[in-house]
Amino acid sequence: MWFYFVLIIASLAIYWLRSRYSYWQKRGVPNLPAYFPFGNLQGILGQHMSALTKQSYEKLKSPGRKLAGIYFFTNPVAMVLDLEFVKDVLIKDFQYFHDRGLYFNEKDDPLMAHLLTLEGNKWKILRNKLAPTFTSGKMKMMFPVITAVAERFQQSLGAVVATGQDIEIKDFLARFTTDVIGTCAFGLECNSLADPKAKFREMGRSIFRQSPVLLMKMLFGLMFRDLARKMHMRVIRKDVGDFFMNAVRETVDHREKNNVVRNDFMDLLIKLKNAEPIEEGNTNQLNQLTFNEIAAQAFMFFVAGFETSSTAMTFCLYELARNQELQDKARKSVLDAVKVHGSMTYEAIYDMKYVENCINESLRKYPPIANNLRSVTNNYKVPETDIVLEKGCRVIIPIYAIHHDPEYYPDPEKYDPDRFDPDQVAQRHQMAFIPFGDGPRICIGMRFGMMQALVGMACLLQNFRFELAARTTVPLVIDPSNFIMGPKEGVWLHFEKI
Ligand code: HEM
Ligand SMILES: *[C@@H]1O[C@H](CO)[C@@H](O)[C@H](O)[C@H]1NC(C)=O
Repeated sequence: MWFYFVLIIASLAIYWLRSRYSYWQKRGVPNLPAYFPFGNLQGILGQHMSALTKQSYEKLKSPGRKLAGIYFFTNPVAMVLDLEFVKDVLIKDFQYFHDRGLYFNEKDDPLMAHLLTLEGNKWKILRNKLAPTFTSGKMKMMFPVITAVAERFQQSLGAVVATGQDIEIKDFLARFTTDVIGTCAFGLECNSLADPKAKFREMGRSIFRQSPVLLMKMLFGLMFRDLARKMHMRVIRKDVGDFFMNAVRETVDHREKNNVVRNDFMDLLIKLKNAEPIEEGNTNQLNQLTFNEIAAQAFMFFVAGFETSSTAMTFCLYELARNQELQDKARKSVLDAVKVHGSMTYEAIYDMKYVENCINESLRKYPPIANNLRSVTNNYKVPETDIVLEKGCRVIIPIYAIHHDPEYYPDPEKYDPDRFDPDQVAQRHQMAFIPFGDGPRICIGMRFGMMQALVGMACLLQNFRFELAARTTVPLVIDPSNFIMGPKEGVWLHFEKI
């Protein structure tokens, strides 16, 4: 009796798996053989997603092929292989691809219902409301805040340098960006530079370091969203969530009580919270945001902003430390711009073209977000093919693989900032460089992230010469369990004051 029962269950399971793993075959979409349980993510426990998707991309890419099928565990995912098709997905046919399909669970994890995860109309309304915080006018207003933090950052670095010690820059830069974002988003002097154990930094660190459990939860939620919601699965640890909720509550209370206006991100959120309904009888909840909703946006600003920018800067310093010639060129670019503009002004920063090239080249070689995701919201016929991507299907844009494709970047492992000289940029497809994504859902913090990296790099180049310390492993090993693409071990540099 039991024997038959087990046999039936096993047969059903095998039948189900077979049919799952023939999803792409049945639809005539090129694909790779996939096996239970990882599908085409075999190796996920030891390798970063960027490396895995690059392997699939290289095996599947073929002239004229727009897309191919892969499997994340047992879920079919369409991988974009062609840059024109990247453009269709991100820009031209955006109306089919406006969602990411990431896991969030507003009930149990209210902080996760933010711009990055929200979908459809809710996303659109919120995006329009938040966009004004990120214009170049607003960036210019935040610029002095960032330079003030950078100044402090550079002084505290100077103090350590004077003792002759090597410095671990990954952590150091994460403290810098935490401070910048804590100041700009929360209006706090969170002082993580002065005190490495400051609560913000600690909380920021634990968001990313609870991995690989976090990574597995995110992947599980991505694939079995309804089930995960029914199970009340949360991705934010309770103490971390409580900390941010309290930080936002205190900031809001303080500002409302004392009528503090700082023209920053938090001000805009408070305005949205207190907004009167725009029209009489308008039931649209989003004209007015609840406290939880604004807390989620502040949280997003923090999460999306600090680790991405700090890893971008870490890799940039690492590459410049390895190549003194490039470093000297970058320093000259800083000094020239400062000379022309008198000091390190907003205008001077955007005149440091070579530094910008260096940052872009590290965003190419090490894109912090290695893959971009979209979820199909309406059956979509792929142009010039018979393939129909069904509603609910996930689409992956392999940013890292594209950035390492020798067709677009000859000798892709070489760090060469001249790739971003205007004449070289003009020769490439617009979609060959997409570290911030593109289209209506492009990274909302792109200007902010670039400005922060430029200020940080310029400050360091102006004041210090640096080289790799002996204890840094070359090449850097990427941390497989971090969602963001960053180095696993510390990156130690030896600095010298100029
Ligand atoms: C070097 C730094 C950064 C990199 C490489 C980066 C990368 C990205 C990428 C690839 C996306 C997805 C875009 C798409 O789907 O087309 C994204 C979205 C987003 N990023 Fe960034 N980002 C950075 C800095 C920041 C900063 C500083 C903030 C906040 C201040 C931020 C906030 C966001 C938000 C809110 C989204 C979701 C936008 C939406 O769905 O409407 N990012 N980012
Ligand atoms: C560097 O990248 C940013 C963001 O993609 C872009 O706006 C800028 O034009 C790039 N700069 C150069 C010199 O290519």
